[in-house]
Amino acid sequence: MDLRAFIEVLSTQDHLRRVPRPVDWKFEIGTITREQQVPLLFENVKGYPGHRVFTNGLSSPGLIALALGLEYGEDLNTIIKAAKGRSQNPLPPEMVTESSVLQNVVPFQQIDFLTFPIPQWSTQDTGRYLGTWHINVSKDPDTGTRNVGVYRMQVLGPKQATVSTSPTSDLGRHVAKAERTGRPLPMAVAIGVSETVMMAASAACPYGFDEYELAGGLETRSLRLIKCQTVNLEVPAESEIVIEGFVQPGVRVQDGPYLDYAGKANTNPKAFVFEATRLTYRNHPIFRGSSVGIPGAEDHQVFSLLAHLSLVDFHGRRSRQRIQNPLLRKRLFRAFQFAGRLGAFHPRTWGR
Ligand SMILES: Cc1cc2nc3c(=O)[nH]c(=O)nc-3n(C[C@H](O)[C@H](O)[C@H](O)COP(=O)(O)O)c2cc1C
Repeated sequence: MDLRAFIEVLSTQDHLRRVPRPVDWKFEIGTITREQQVPLLFENVKGYPGHRVFTNGLSSPGLIALALGLEYGEDLNTIIKAAKGRSQNPLPPEMVTESSVLQNVVPFQQIDFLTFPIPQWSTQDTGRYLGTWHINVSKDPDTGTRNVGVYRMQVLGPKQATVSTSPTSDLGRHVAKAERTGRPLPMAVAIGVSETVMMAASAACPYGFDEYELAGGLETRSLRLIKCQTVNLEVPAESEIVIEGFVQPGVRVQDGPYLDYAGKANTNPKAFVFEATRLTYRNHPIFRGSSVGIPGAEDHQVFSLLAHLSLVDFHGRRSRQRIQNPLLRKRLFRAFQFAGRLGAFHPRTWGR
């Protein structure tokens, strides 16, 4: 189910709240998202005619059930059992050549991230965040194995954004390998992918495992991928926006402050820098983002499900995982945030 089909399901079953009045990308979309905690489709972003922003798609277990093709009212144990069973049956993706994300191909010179209504989610954020509910795709430069993860991205310029993660994440390891030979690391960003792809990308899979296979398992259907043009990578055919580019070797910048999952404005002084080489998007695109920081927000809902599947680690110390995972399983989100705030001082995490 692509994002538009999911939004249609939400709408038909009366779970979608449309916001037709004009809203500001600066703080207003984020504030409404954090206050309401129900799926929201902003249809009228000031200064961005023809664009839409979707948030809170997975902000409750019932919504996760719908994204998995189950009933909204399914009980939590059934949802967990279904997700666990499917995660144990990964399906390899298949390549296709047609995709609606190719409807608009932006020439390199004209690439400007701010042609999209990218929100500044919170007054605690230093800027606009392109990547809050998206995927980052890269490959191990030596072995070619693929990683699909979620690593936040702050807009730095028309073609430049941060990528905030720790050196121990799969992407961090790819960058380190590329840097050893002074090469940029090819990376693709897809925004507005199916929610099952998001769940898979958020999962802590063993290094070298392809999260697209997990997405196929969760969806019970192979994911359809298209080839990128300027980098040797693949992205979901059913994406709203695709940005190809490279992580620059040897360059680090500050990302944040940014209101993160632990409910604290967090800064990563050693974020990577991504530069775009190609941008494509669907007609009348839907920008998918998330405003985190509230206990039980959609990131917590996904982490809770993944904790039941033993697929959460935050690239942190085992001691921290031993505290965080039971809290997530028991849905004690305030305590989870508290633990996260303590752990956020650990230098190996994705901020501090
Ligand atoms: C909404 C959301 C935002 C996230 N932001 C980040 C981030 O900024 N940096 C990071 O390292 N991980 C972030 N994560 C967690 C990773 O996606 C997760 O650890 C995933 O397992 C990637 O791990 P890997 O590098 O081991 O593949 C985020 C997850 C979600 C759901």
